[in-house]
Amino acid sequence: MTAASPTGGRGRAVGRVVVVGSLNVDLVTEVDRHPSPGETVLGGDLVRLRGGKGANQALAAARAGAEVAIVGRVGDDADGRAYRDALVAAGVDVTHLTTTPDAPTGTALIVVDAEGENTIVVAPGANARLTPADVHGAAATIRAADAVLVQLEIGQDTVETVAEIASEARTRLVLNASPVRPLPPSLLALADPVVVNEHEARAYDAASTCVTLGARGARWGEETASPPPVDPVDTTGAGDAFAGALAAALASGEDRAGALRAAVAAGAEATRWVGAQPL
Ligand code: RIB
Repeated sequence: MTAASPTGGRGRAVGRVVVVGSLNVDLVTEVDRHPSPGETVLGGDLVRLRGGKGANQALAAARAGAEVAIVGRVGDDADGRAYRDALVAAGVDVTHLTTTPDAPTGTALIVVDAEGENTIVVAPGANARLTPADVHGAAATIRAADAVLVQLEIGQDTVETVAEIASEARTRLVLNASPVRPLPPSLLALADPVVVNEHEARAYDAASTCVTLGARGARWGEETASPPPVDPVDTTGAGDAFAGALAAALASGEDRAGALRAAVAAGAEATRWVGAQPL
């Protein structure tokens, strides 16, 4: 990023964040306990909500006060159109949100147990059609941003294109390395930080790693932060709220400690509602 960011009313810089990632319809049901492999259990009523790590993080960054643009794909269907409208209503720039004709909007199957813990299976749909060319089309926006935030519900070559453009432009890359898949050390080295949970952290070895610790908060190198006490309803999307708020804080010029505090608070807040996004 080369130009100075504008400042907000409270004197803090307003960071510019680009999120490259997924948009899903989340199909959610609740169970008393998760089934074992091969087992069937009965759930509650099915609920349709908006989700997807990319969109969840974009909306979290916007809630945290950043100027946000999203780069992604939705299907040419009612879900895709509704999602576009919702992002616009939240103030997210959708210039680089493409409607793809050959696949439906992504879908996630989410099961939440009585403790608020979830399992998620994603059918990527349109998200899998996001290409390096789409990212090149948004290159000027990425170059002008203070931070670019990417996750792993899109193709590897697309993620690597984001990292290349960010690196060339010296735009800060925040990589939420979820869901876990093998990543080249050269990609991990470009991220500051890689954001992962404790399970995901075992899969990677990165110089700058920010680890979310659930109810215990998060750590990033020497820095740690604890969340305010909350009575969680649903942990779905808490990690996304953390990542979005972290990117927004870093983009606004916060240091590690300040960004970590803001992110932990946002992650805790996101456990207070059902689903990944506040209704
Ligand atoms: O991180 C939570 C998200 O993961 C859900 O919204 C779901 O869509 C999957 O992307």
